[in-house]
Amino acid sequence: MTENRRETFRLGERTIRRMGYGAMQLAGPGVFGPPKDHATALAVLREAVASGVNHIDTSDFYGPHVTNRLIREALFPYADDLVIVTKVGAVRGADASWNPAQSPAELTQAVHDNLRNLGVDALEIVNLRVMGRVHEPSEGSIAAQFSALAALQRQGLIRHLGLSNVTTAQIAEASAIAPVVCVQNNYNVIHRDDDTLIDQLAARNIAYVPFFPLGGFTPLQSSTLSHVAARVGATARQVALAWLLQRSPNILLIPGTSSLGHLRENLAAAELTLPEPALSALEAIRTEAGNPPPARHD
Ligand SMILES: NC(=O)c1ccc[n+]([C@@H]2O[C@H](COP(=O)([O-])OP(=O)(O)OC[C@H]3O[C@@H](n4cnc5c(N)ncnc54)[C@H](OP(=O)(O)O)[C@@H]3O)[C@@H](O)[C@H]2O)c1
Repeated sequence: MTENRRETFRLGERTIRRMGYGAMQLAGPGVFGPPKDHATALAVLREAVASGVNHIDTSDFYGPHVTNRLIREALFPYADDLVIVTKVGAVRGADASWNPAQSPAELTQAVHDNLRNLGVDALEIVNLRVMGRVHEPSEGSIAAQFSALAALQRQGLIRHLGLSNVTTAQIAEASAIAPVVCVQNNYNVIHRDDDTLIDQLAARNIAYVPFFPLGGFTPLQSSTLSHVAARVGATARQVALAWLLQRSPNILLIPGTSSLGHLRENLAAAELTLPEPALSALEAIRTEAGNPPPARHD
């Protein structure tokens, strides 16, 4: 990957490439237990970094502990430019359930679990994952949780803080407690609830990191997307990722995959520039999906 202003973003104190990698898919089925292929999981991580990825998204509750331990096994000692972003706020049940863990004691435990399993003295960025309506945010104060993380930041265990699955009001509430450097919410070329929020964060130089950029557990399905992909000579996944990169300069990508082939396909999307007719054609997706047209798209 080449490096210029279009392809990089200042995240906290670090400049990272906008095309990153999300490690969640490396854990076993249902993001629980060991990977289906340990050697391939390590190879995916190593090839991502060798290809220029210097932003990896993870959590100690993926597995649990699995993706962090794979990252450490594959990449430790870490390259100076590698930024590992983790998230806290949930624990896994023995039945693979995802349960809130938002008390100060639970958040502190989660930070120490991440430090130990990643093998670092301080975490570069920690996102508070608010549970909301599972993959959508809902209103409610997050002051107690975010204050607990801000205290750990003051102790030097966390360099920067972010938020995940949050509303505009929650970002404002948290920002009054400590600086927020990134927001990680559910967003992609079809699911565009955060269009206004992305523009607001861009104006404040806060990164927006969409989770489910390829649809997550429900892969993106759209005839418009397929038609545009055929026209520009790319795959539908590459068009979905390239569209995000062009949507706003503060969008950072963390597509998740457990496959070397998919990793290569996804990283190549950073080289794809969608022409104006393709961008216009992609606007039809909202109507196709039965949604109202977006408020803004540039
Ligand atoms: N903050 C949060 O609450 C939250 C929630 C979910 C995820 N995340 C983060 O966001 C990252 C991205 O989300 P995600 O991994 O759930 O969803 P995603 O990136 O939208 O999609 C991943 C899915 O697409 C498949 N895939 C990836 N590349 C492909 C390709 N080129 N062709 C065909 N299929 C492909 C993957 O399967 P294969 O493994 O077979 O490629 C996997 O099933 C995660 O890794 C995680 O780090 C955060």
